Parts: sequence; C-alpha cells; structure tokens
Amino acid sequence: MKYYIHTYGCQMNIHDSEKIAGILRDMGYDECNSPEEADVVVFNTCCIRETAEKKIYGHIGQMKKLKCKKPNLIVAVCGCMSQQEGASEHIRQSYPFVDVVLGTGNLNMLRQGIENAGRQRLFNTDFCCVREEDFPQYRTSYPNAWVNINYGCNNFCTYCIVPYVRGRERSRRPEDILAEVKGLLSDGYKEITLLGQNVNSYGKDIEGASFASLMREIGKLPGKFRLRFMTSHPKDLTQDIIDAVAEHKNICNNVHLPVQSGSSRILKAMNRRYDRESYLALVERIKECIPDVGITTDIMVGFPGETEEDFCDTLDLVRKAQFSSAFCFVYSPRKGTPASLMPQIDDAVKKDRITRLLACQNEVTKRISKTMVGKRYEVLVEGNNFRYKDTMCGRTESGRLVNFKCDSSLVGKFVTVKIERASSATLWGVVTEEE
Ligand code: SAH
Ligand code: SF4
Ligand code: F3S
Repeated sequence: MKYYIHTYGCQMNIHDSEKIAGILRDMGYDECNSPEEADVVVFNTCCIRETAEKKIYGHIGQMKKLKCKKPNLIVAVCGCMSQQEGASEHIRQSYPFVDVVLGTGNLNMLRQGIENAGRQRLFNTDFCCVREEDFPQYRTSYPNAWVNINYGCNNFCTYCIVPYVRGRERSRRPEDILAEVKGLLSDGYKEITLLGQNVNSYGKDIEGASFASLMREIGKLPGKFRLRFMTSHPKDLTQDIIDAVAEHKNICNNVHLPVQSGSSRILKAMNRRYDRESYLALVERIKECIPDVGITTDIMVGFPGETEEDFCDTLDLVRKAQFSSAFCFVYSPRKGTPASLMPQIDDAVKKDRITRLLACQNEVTKRISKTMVGKRYEVLVEGNNFRYKDTMCGRTESGRLVNFKCDSSLVGKFVTVKIERASSATLWGVVTEEE
C-alpha cells in the first residue's frame, strides 16, 4: 500500500506533511512518486493567494479521472485551504470523489478518515488541541529538521488569511521543544529550524518563557550544529533576541524579516504596527550587532490604495535595506479579510510593479553576490541540486545557497567552500576543506 503527499505553501506545511507521512507509515503505507501509483493521495493545501488555491483545486479535480480507473483510491484534503470558511462544504458537494477533508487543527483524525474511506466520508474542520508529541513524524529534510515552537497568529494583518485558518497564537512548552531538539541532535541532524508565523512572540502565553531564552537554551547545547528560525515579525524583534543571535556561534546570522511595503501609509493600512523608519532602523541595528548577517524579506505589491509614490518608497527601501534575497508577491484579495473589501488596484499596475520590484531586488542580490566571490564560507552540505547535473548544494550560515561538486558522502557535513562565480542569486564554488 502506497501514499503520495502533495504539499503546497510554507515551511509550516512542509513540516505538517512530515506528520501526515508519519501517520500513514504507522498505518503500513509506503511512499511513492506519483498519484498514479498511490493508494492514498493527500493534498496538504495552502490558501495564502488565489493563484495557490486555484492550482490546488485543479489538482484535486484531476483525481476524478484517476478514481474512475482506481475506485479504491483514497483522496484526502487537509491544511489551510480546507480550514477556510465554506471550503469543506464546497469540496463535499463539488468533489464527490474526495473521501476525507480535515483542517489545520485536527490532523489526528486522518487515520480514522482513511480507515473508514469507501464506507463513510469524513469532513471535519473542528479545532482540537492536539499535542505535537502525539504525532509520529517521518522527516524528509536531513540534515535540517523543522521544529514547531508556536502555532497560529494573532496579528491580523489586513491582507492575510493565516489567522483565520491557523487559529490563535499558542506556544509549545519550552521543555518539550528542548527535548525534541536534543533528540534530533542525537539522531545526527545538523541544522534545526524553529518554526512559527511569528517566532518572536514565542512564550507570551507561558509564564517565564521567551524566544530569546529559548534560543539561548538551545544555543548552548553541546556539539556542532546550526540553529535557524522563521518567521520574525519586525514589531516583536527585541534587542534581547538580536543579542541572543549575536552571542551564540551556532545560531545562524540570518534573519527573515518580512517588510511587506516601504510606505508607512500602506504599512498602517496593512496593520503591520511598524513604519518605514523604524523598520530601517531595526535593519541597521541588526547589521551592527550581528556580523555578516543575511537579512531576507517578503514584499507585496498592489495592496489596495498603493500609489506610485508608495511603490517608489518600497523600491527605495529595498535599495537601502540591501536584503540578501526577497520573496516578492502580488497582493491577492482573500475573502474574509478587511483588505479584500477595500478598493482594489488594477491588475496591469500590479504586474508592472512586480516586474520593477523583481528587477530592483535582483540588482541588490547581484551586488551582494559579487562581494562574496573569492571568499571562503562554511557550508552545510544538503544534497543534490537537481537543477544542475552532478551538482551538490548547501547554505552559508547567512542563508545563501551555494552550488559545488563533491562526493554525496559529504551530505550532513560542514565543508569550506570558496566562491568562484556568481550569477545574481546563484553562487558557485569549490570545496577547499572537509570536516
Ligand atoms: N507570518 C509571516 C508571513 C506568512 S505568509 C509574516 O508575518 O511575515 C508569507 C508571505 O505571504 C507574507 O509575508 C506576505 O508577503 C505574503 N502574503 C500574505 N498574504 C498575502 C496576500 N493576501 N496576497 C499576497 N501575498 C500575501
Ligand atoms: Fe499573516 Fe501578519 Fe500573521 Fe504573518 S503576522 S501570518 S502576515 S497575519
Ligand atoms: Fe502556510 Fe499557506 Fe497556510 S503560507 S500557513 S500553508 S495559508
């Protein structure tokens, strides 16, 4: 019996898929490479933008044909899209070949749904408070391991669907996180990435806990490993957190700090609770305190009411902040969010702005890449880069991806790589020293 999981969206979902795989393997299923070979197909969905959602509904629709050929095929849909208001009912009615729909807070019901498939369809998006420890996990990202530290979000940025589909913010207990991390390190994982929609607000709901102290506890664990974290909300990134990163050698000098816009007026309408000046001041402070830090970001264009002047403020901020890379998005109205009710911007204007933004960030990335040529960096070897033949890849501490040739036995090892050339975002190097 075989399973195929189709994962969409962010790291949170990638990690949830490791839990789904854990449940399925516990039930005796093995992984396969395509829905055609599978007995169970699971869609772990995302609804952050309309494009994501449309694509997923298209992929689910394709299961209709497959199920005609293989009537015993079980189709399950879970994740953020199913948690949206009305989605579960929509799938129940319009996709009669879907057997199971679960939300983001009741994955524990997947086993039951699959066991009963064929006899009874299961549609349930109730939020049960399931403990992380209750899930078997099948990790697929060695040498990195994802570790949830907090779930949900309380920020309600006016464009964003996440607080509606992931529920209120709640933190895992520090002792549980520490126990998981210790276990992963003793299993040989070399990089731990702490996950949360807003890691900086970790511990606000637990007496005596804070993100800085959690990082310090993990940072002082013995052995050579890397600690990463994402995502940081600028409004909650305290000096204490910056100090914790600067103090510990094994906490990576890499901060993902989504800015969204360079216009204070738009940031206010987005309910981000910082402005352009305070964001730029924070970037400066991080750069002063953490040597060679790589700051990455998320930026959106075409938010309701964004004028050419607002957009030029974003371009200007991109040049000033010098992000090592940026994920750039076109704003997509999400039903149920305040921004979806505001007057919307023309698609042609959005398209023009995203092209200009990408070109602007590309210039910045190219400039930073050039300064890296000729220098040596410690890189953790991650595995093959399948985009290029016989090429391995790994990341610098600051988070830049580097391609190089080496033996596959070096996966999970730290090597020194000398950067030989750079084509904008892609760095190419040679291994000069092995662990
Ligand atoms: N919790 C993270 C972001 C999670 S969503 C944070 O607060 O930074 C990842 C990114 O998707 C966001 O940073 C934002 O840039 C983008 N995004 C969120 N909602 C969007 C929407 N409605 N349209 C387009 N992009 C969106
Ligand atoms: Fe969405 Fe804002 Fe929460 Fe991030 S902080 S998940 S952008 S509401
Ligand atoms: Fe992530 Fe998409 Fe959900 S970005 S939290 S999977 S809506």
